[in-house]
Amino acid sequence: MKFRAGGVEHDRPCFWISDHGIVLIDQRALPMSVDLIRIEDTERAAEMIRTLAVRGAPAIGSFGAWALALAIRRGEDPETVKKILYETRPTAVDLEHGLDLVMKWFKKDGVDGVLESAGRFYEETIETCRRIGQMGSHLISNGTKVMTHCNAGALATLDWGTALAPIRFSSREGMDPFVWVSETRPLLQGARLTAWELKNEGIRHRIIVDSASASLIAGGEVDLIIVGADRVCVNGDFANKIGTLSKAIAAREFGVPFYVAVPWSTFDRECSSGEEIPIEVRGGDEISFVGEKRISPTGSECHNPAFDVTPAKYVTGFITPDGVISPNDVKNKIK
Ligand code: MRU
Repeated sequence: MKFRAGGVEHDRPCFWISDHGIVLIDQRALPMSVDLIRIEDTERAAEMIRTLAVRGAPAIGSFGAWALALAIRRGEDPETVKKILYETRPTAVDLEHGLDLVMKWFKKDGVDGVLESAGRFYEETIETCRRIGQMGSHLISNGTKVMTHCNAGALATLDWGTALAPIRFSSREGMDPFVWVSETRPLLQGARLTAWELKNEGIRHRIIVDSASASLIAGGEVDLIIVGADRVCVNGDFANKIGTLSKAIAAREFGVPFYVAVPWSTFDRECSSGEEIPIEVRGGDEISFVGEKRISPTGSECHNPAFDVTPAKYVTGFITPDGVISPNDVKNKIK
């Protein structure tokens, strides 16, 4: 991903390892400023995930894996560190997956093996997303109007993205897609992050308020929808950022194809249906404040679920690194 920070042009993932610390783009500050933060301890690593300085399912999977691997190298107790990191965010299964992998590598290969494997996992995550882009690019031709939600781009996955990968890939192949970006209340991952990525990449886009989605879908302004996911169940139900379900229902009603772009690490073999997905409920201040400014009456309570569950019946296909599969195929493919 290309970006500018401190007057320097970068072309790198949303975080990287340097001198046994993790350097990340602080996503809370984007797009107004591009700040890099260096993390060298477990509490700060957990805080970065909890406060969404690093976010998106595959990115927190790899970030969590590196945070645990580096803590093991510092001689910290693996089980304690794993628990601290695991408890930061409950919905994205990738975090659990990344932490479990590190524990497995540690038991098998010791400290050096863990660092090497975490590095390989990092590279594989990037390659997986590039392949999602390649596999989904046939859905997009010149002028295709794609709608997406939240940020399932390079910032959420290290590089390429999941939902943004086919868009990025087709644009790099010379296509000229157009993207409707829903702002994604309350933390504005669409307006702040997806728009920033698309602008840096020179891809045409417009930001809309979340509640404009259905009328654009109904009005024939959307050719297809591509979103990411935080957890996909065995029956094809999936969780993604709050506001995904209403787009899926509108898409079905008005005959617009609805795709979910996902790496295999986001499928959860233990989760048979959407009812079992733990949904993160975040603090009400994220709704009642915009930045520093309060926008609702003091004393009016807020309810802030960060994700919703979309039933498999609304999904046209899952764009995986190995091709597009139907929701009915999920069970066999993840065996
Ligand atoms: O709360 P966030 O910003 O971490 O939510 C992220 C999403 O919902 C993404 O769509 C999802 O993680 C897929 S990322 C490729």
